[in-house]
Amino acid sequence: MKILGIETSCDETAAAVVENGTKVLSNVIASSVDLHAKTGGVVPEVAAREHIRQISPVIDQALKEASVEWSDIDAIAVTHAPGLMSSLLVGVNTAQSLAYIHKKPLIPVHHIAGHIYANFLEKKEEPQFPILILTVSGGHNELVLMKGHFDFEVIGETLDDAAGEAFDKVARMLDIGFPGGPIISKLAEKGSPNAFDFPRARLNKDNQYNFSFSGLKTAVKQEIHRHAELTDTVIADIAASFQMAVVDVLSEKLIKAADDFDVKEIHLAGGVSANRLLRKMTTERIDQSIKLFYPENLIYCTDNAAMVAGAAYFSHQKNPVKADQWKRVEAHSQLSLS
Ligand code: KG4
Ligand code: ZN
Repeated sequence: MKILGIETSCDETAAAVVENGTKVLSNVIASSVDLHAKTGGVVPEVAAREHIRQISPVIDQALKEASVEWSDIDAIAVTHAPGLMSSLLVGVNTAQSLAYIHKKPLIPVHHIAGHIYANFLEKKEEPQFPILILTVSGGHNELVLMKGHFDFEVIGETLDDAAGEAFDKVARMLDIGFPGGPIISKLAEKGSPNAFDFPRARLNKDNQYNFSFSGLKTAVKQEIHRHAELTDTVIADIAASFQMAVVDVLSEKLIKAADDFDVKEIHLAGGVSANRLLRKMTTERIDQSIKLFYPENLIYCTDNAAMVAGAAYFSHQKNPVKADQWKRVEAHSQLSLS
């Protein structure tokens, strides 16, 4: 089964063709990230305008690179939630029109389910459920227990910022560019993770699987104000100490939950799963009996449409969509995964 996936929930306009949920035939991404670098964050109206400009050429390119015609496509999949409303609407409206014109079923996909299925794109072995997933990016930060295909339970989430959002905000405070994650982790290589003792929000027992990064963000802000001049050394030390504080909490809570829920596999997903320290620290802390997976190809960590088409295949296997389902697909800015 060949599915055309469409993803426009934030600032990436993406389309991909994936066969049977795992074989990527094409994966095209046009990002408007450079336009948002000036503002240090995504401006919804700018992102939506770019989606409108890019969506048709990106879909054409995805079909061309996959060497398929419309007649070869069995279904269309689109991210319908959560995300920036004006961005989601471009993808959803385009997908609905295409489903109507080409008479294809339309499969709505939750963005976080998409990130989760990014790990299945590269997975060579059968999954061993239950799987614990840390899905962490600019817009979300969750611990998800996956008991089977499309059987998710969110066991933890952030009480304030997502980790990726904290990376982006600290980068803005340091005036070093956007998106903050890759820039901070690069600078951190030259700094000391012990230079500043930034706080880790471990939270009380009721919140043991939840996260909070607002206190850390405030501590970084106060540290920045303590320095008359932000030299390259101070910036590198702040980057390294901040990154260590975030990753320490993410991996600690992940390992604790994996133990409590007796899982067989741990998956890292979402933009922050590209972080080298997160991968390293989780590898070091994980029990030898649990397998760790993360997207080897960094393109599957951040937003892409192959993950959407992949997720759609497994969703459709479990709950097949009806031919006229496209009429009822709606965009939602907020929608829980479970
Ligand atoms: O999944 P994604 O493309 O978009 C959302 O769904 O939000 O993730 C983007 C986020 C940004 O906040 C970015 O700073 C972060 O992922 N990110 C990273 C790294 N690469 C991207 N954070 C930490 N380390 C990285 N290497
Ligand atoms: Zn995402």
